[in-house]
Amino acid sequence: MPLSSANSNVTQVDFTSLRGRVAPGATIIAVGGGKGGVGKSFVSSSISIFLAHLGYETLAIDLDLGGANLHTNLGVSLNTRGINEFILDPSLSLGELAQPTHWPKLKLISGASEVFDIANIDEVQRSRVMSSIYNYKTDFIVLDLSAGTHTSTLDFFLMASHKVVVFTPEPSSIENAYRFLKASFFRKLRRYEHQLQLKEQIDELLGNRGAHGIRNPADLIRVLVEREPVLGLKLKNILTDLNFEIILNQARTRQEIDMGGALQSVCNKYFGFPCGFLGGLEYDNAVWQSLRQRNHLLMSNRQSHLYGQLLSIARKIAKTQSLKAVV
Ligand SMILES: Nc1ncnc2c1ncn2[C@@H]1O[C@H](COP(=O)(O)OP(=O)(O)OP(=O)(O)O)[C@@H](O)[C@H]1O
Ligand SMILES: [Mg+2]
Repeated sequence: MPLSSANSNVTQVDFTSLRGRVAPGATIIAVGGGKGGVGKSFVSSSISIFLAHLGYETLAIDLDLGGANLHTNLGVSLNTRGINEFILDPSLSLGELAQPTHWPKLKLISGASEVFDIANIDEVQRSRVMSSIYNYKTDFIVLDLSAGTHTSTLDFFLMASHKVVVFTPEPSSIENAYRFLKASFFRKLRRYEHQLQLKEQIDELLGNRGAHGIRNPADLIRVLVEREPVLGLKLKNILTDLNFEIILNQARTRQEIDMGGALQSVCNKYFGFPCGFLGGLEYDNAVWQSLRQRNHLLMSNRQSHLYGQLLSIARKIAKTQSLKAVV
């Protein structure tokens, strides 16, 4: 995978109000992935339901601003006011928008009635959304993200302690998911390079990738640490915190389920830090059949493999509740 476009088009966001802060309220889980239709909303809704089912107060937020459908996945009606209205009206608080669901411990902040382009959010609006999420008091907050690598989507992804990326076994989904992870990696790298005064070095290394033998992010960091042992190592430690987590969805065969481990190994080598594999999920027709009945698979199919696979993922996440994101 080329490193090229990842370092261009990076806007500077003022993170001073958030940097170094530990989320006081909740453990945040962001569910992203480059491609549309891979199952981000299904996975977000399922993790939210299971965490609530396990006894945790949970808030699910639909941050797919242009194509909100988390409410459909949860079998509830679209609220008249959702996250889009929150973005447009500074007098609103997140708490006012949280609506109940079928699960007593699960609340939802839906997308909204109006189609809203994520490209229209400015930095001030984005920072307000992020700081409000950080300050919201609950056990878990699950963020359902849009497809693509818009800077707002990347920042919502990076703010979570669990940065979960959904792959399906198709080559285009794998390619897009790596593109999304690479864009997140560079978004974080670019955020810290000024602070660590490494920008010039990094630009030079990326400008002469071939000469330096840099084929992937892991190579970039390795060469940087050779040149700048102290600051390079500091940056490496910051980036190691990214700790991406993979879910393989819509697997139709045993071999496809086993691809999860292979994707994890590639991810480890490509980025040079450990990525987690949260689990594989089977393709099951019951998913869309339940949705059509405005239901969720988890309400009617407790005997299915998928039920057990989702429960296992939610349990893994629940175990790490004490880990909190540091921006
Ligand atoms: N494991 C699964 N088995 C069967 N169908 C699934 C599974 N996961 C997701 N689906 C179906 O695939 C379709 C896409 O899922 P979903 O809407 O969750 O994807 P998405 O990544 O959120 O898409 P978008 O980027 O458009 O928001 C839906 O019809 C959903 O019901
Ligand atoms: Mg979706």
